[in-house]
Amino acid sequence: MAKSALEKINPPSSRKKVLILSGAGLSAESGVRTFRESDGLWEEYDVMEVCSVEGYSRNPRLVADFYDARRMDLSEKQPNRAHEMLSRLKNKYPSQIDILTQNVDDLLERAGCPDVIHLHGTLTHLRCEMCGNVFEIGYQSQSDAKCPACQSKKVRHNVVMFGEEAPMYAKLQESIDECEAFVVIGTSGQVLDVAWYAQWFEHSLLNNLDPDVRLDPYFKVVYHEKATAAAEKIEKYVEDLLAE
Ligand code: APR
Ligand code: ZN
Repeated sequence: MAKSALEKINPPSSRKKVLILSGAGLSAESGVRTFRESDGLWEEYDVMEVCSVEGYSRNPRLVADFYDARRMDLSEKQPNRAHEMLSRLKNKYPSQIDILTQNVDDLLERAGCPDVIHLHGTLTHLRCEMCGNVFEIGYQSQSDAKCPACQSKKVRHNVVMFGEEAPMYAKLQESIDECEAFVVIGTSGQVLDVAWYAQWFEHSLLNNLDPDVRLDPYFKVVYHEKATAAAEKIEKYVEDLLAE
């Protein structure tokens, strides 16, 4: 159950906790395309063909090719200053900052950020459909991969599809219950209702590119600029909160 509002405002310990949730906008400046903007990923592929359970059952080959292409693309990308800022914060306050992301890229990890919670899975891993084992394949094609645990070749992308459970959402609820501040970077809120979550926090900050009346009014602080431009202010905002 969520902590009482009073308990969240005056946490029993003097150590505040901050939940930092990111979306595709965090990796946009690294060249990883976002989902819903004009040049976004959705344009090239029929969403329901490659990101849904139905599409996968209809054409598993197309889905495997789609994720192979994304993995190949990711191998050529680099973390940006916003990833590096989050990594600095998490390394400085490991037990007081929860880093959760909707992104399936590994750019936070490559920026040195530990314990990233990927709510929608990870592009650089596969999942065995026989024994459930999740194993790393980096940026390779999955074409001749087989599960190192049971040797099965029935493996799939380790990315959550529309129409299936997202088991890591339990971690999101835990963080919402435990944290006093909510920092959101680069998400349209079309899958996770960040506006609703923001109401549970005394301190809240949103950084997106453009104004959005469905989100902005619910956050105490709003920055409409690129994440790399807002990074310094976000870092100071979190530092000031944790120094209180
Ligand atoms: N800096 C900050 N924000 C940015 C930047 C940037 N450089 N570029 C884009 N944005 C913002 C946009 O303003 C938009 O609000 O990032 C957001 C991107 O929104 P989406 O493309 O919808 O991506 P996201 O919200 O992460 O999608 C959520 O939907 O398809 C599913 O599972 C998929 O995890 C994904 C989920
Ligand atoms: Zn297996």
